[in-house]
Amino acid sequence: MCGIVGYIGKRQASPILLDGLRRLEYRGYDSAGLALSNGRGIEVLRRAGRIENLRKLVAETNPRGEAGISHTRWATHGAPTDSNAHPHRDQSGRLAVVHNGVIENYQQLRDWLKTEDHKFSSETDTEVLAHLIGYHYDQSEEQDPVQRLVGAVQAALPRVKGTYGIAVMHEDAPSVIVGARLGSPLVVGLGADEHFLASDVSAIVAHTKDVVYLNDYDVVTITRDGFDVKHLEGGEARVTVSRVDFTEDDAEKGDFPHYMLKEIHEQPNSIRNAMRGRLSRDEATAILGGLQMTPQELRQVDRIILSACGTACHAGMVGEYLIESLARIPTEVEIASEFRYRNVPTTKDTLQFVISQSGETIDTLAALREAKRKGIKCLGIVNNVASTIARETDGGIYIHAGPEIGVAATKSFTSQVAVMTLLSLLLGRIHHLSSTDGLELIDELEAIPDKITDILKQAAHIKQIAEKYAHVDGMLFMGRLINYPVALEGALKMKEISYIYASGHPSAELKHGVIALVKPELPSVFIAPHDAVFEKNISNIEEVKARKGPVIAVATEGHPHIEKVADDVIYIPRCPSALSPLLTVIPLQLLSYYIAVARGCDVDKPRNLAKSVTVE
Ligand code: F6R
Repeated sequence: MCGIVGYIGKRQASPILLDGLRRLEYRGYDSAGLALSNGRGIEVLRRAGRIENLRKLVAETNPRGEAGISHTRWATHGAPTDSNAHPHRDQSGRLAVVHNGVIENYQQLRDWLKTEDHKFSSETDTEVLAHLIGYHYDQSEEQDPVQRLVGAVQAALPRVKGTYGIAVMHEDAPSVIVGARLGSPLVVGLGADEHFLASDVSAIVAHTKDVVYLNDYDVVTITRDGFDVKHLEGGEARVTVSRVDFTEDDAEKGDFPHYMLKEIHEQPNSIRNAMRGRLSRDEATAILGGLQMTPQELRQVDRIILSACGTACHAGMVGEYLIESLARIPTEVEIASEFRYRNVPTTKDTLQFVISQSGETIDTLAALREAKRKGIKCLGIVNNVASTIARETDGGIYIHAGPEIGVAATKSFTSQVAVMTLLSLLLGRIHHLSSTDGLELIDELEAIPDKITDILKQAAHIKQIAEKYAHVDGMLFMGRLINYPVALEGALKMKEISYIYASGHPSAELKHGVIALVKPELPSVFIAPHDAVFEKNISNIEEVKARKGPVIAVATEGHPHIEKVADDVIYIPRCPSALSPLLTVIPLQLLSYYIAVARGCDVDKPRNLAKSVTVE
């Protein structure tokens, strides 16, 4: 999604802005731009396409300025052209704005501004916002330009319907940048003789670890020496300085060719981090203090709803199996974008979880707000601790996976599944799960990271299989029970990064329609670990083979007879079926990764996709 970086200090701003934008590249964008203020005016440079195009323009023109705002745009209103790229100027040409989010009433505002003789040079909602703030600035009688600019922002934003994270500069007030947010994240970075604004902390973590995460309706003014946060309607706002707990290296690729591959390999550790300090052998249970619920309150829960989008939703589907089998509490997964517009029946003791890596996905956030509106207790399973969802939930479980930069979610999936296993263990133990069963699950859980390391050692073998099938147009993914969501996840990974059409199905659904597709050119991936439905999966594989469909199987080691029916086999170590998704998903992540690489796809930045979907 769009990214914002702002800087004011003693250094030249443009290298800092360009570096910050590069660190936000993973979020997805299709044009980039910056505005610099040097006391003599504001210079705006914008380019469609990659940040590299903007970098070249900056190198050619060498603009100077120790204050600036910059942006990567993901087109919503108007095509990704130079003129639609941000920053946008107001009617006077002396004010510049960058904006994340969507202004829903931009057409009405634009029509009205036209009656005030405003002329527009782009098709964007952001240019309307720039003109609106400029209009209020020009109308103001305030003499001090800084107060006048803050006042103009405070006057303009209440007229706007929609979401925004913005940064604004005016030629009259070269010593400040003004920022504001509603529904779109914005963070202030505190440095010595310099301050930053960013839509994501990873853009500025190389410069400072002390940050202030702004709240909705905050309006911030940053200068070289300080910052001041006001409420949109006036008055001081609540400010908390936080310390960022990851380094710039955590957000770098290191020796890996892609973030996605790095993050796949991080999974033994990210799962350890998800479990760290949360397992009690003495009581054979999990300790999840973040839920902020007593055992009595948890025991009363009679229904659980899990809401999420995409990969997080697949993790939720695994969670449904886990909670129902370990704790016997009826659980349902509701796709967040559907939940927000449905009227899902609930009970007085329903507990809802929203699951989100970014904590900013707009549909998931809306599902959370809808649940709260209806009085449902709603907790979060979130990676980004500073995110809107983390702040708006009444408690929850952080997954502690560290920054996930690759657009395709990998380590967040396994960490979400790991914490939902902990949740199921805890709920199971306050109901009827025995301490022996609880301890056995703990032993098996603790063994998972090393088993993932063993699977990762097979990367070369998986790469070979990937290269064999890289030319295909389509792929089917089949799994049963707790591995059905893994089939969906495998298909999603394949689609999003390799652009091969793929779909996931419960294996037995084959003969209800999907089998019509089977042919020698269409490989099927079967997730067939050695569990209660293994033999059923073998029958399904045989049905595919009988129709000359190639089969790749993910199977448990020690059962080599699967090689008699499948063309290619990737083995996973033995584990209880409840934990198998933590292992079976790894070969599928690697398979999609290597197929995408073999097809020459941009793995970390797949076309049309954004890391965090903050607009509906
Ligand atoms: C898939 C993917 C998306 C996200 C979805 C939810 O690889 O990345 O499907 O899982 O957009 O995102 P979060 O978890 O940030 O709410």
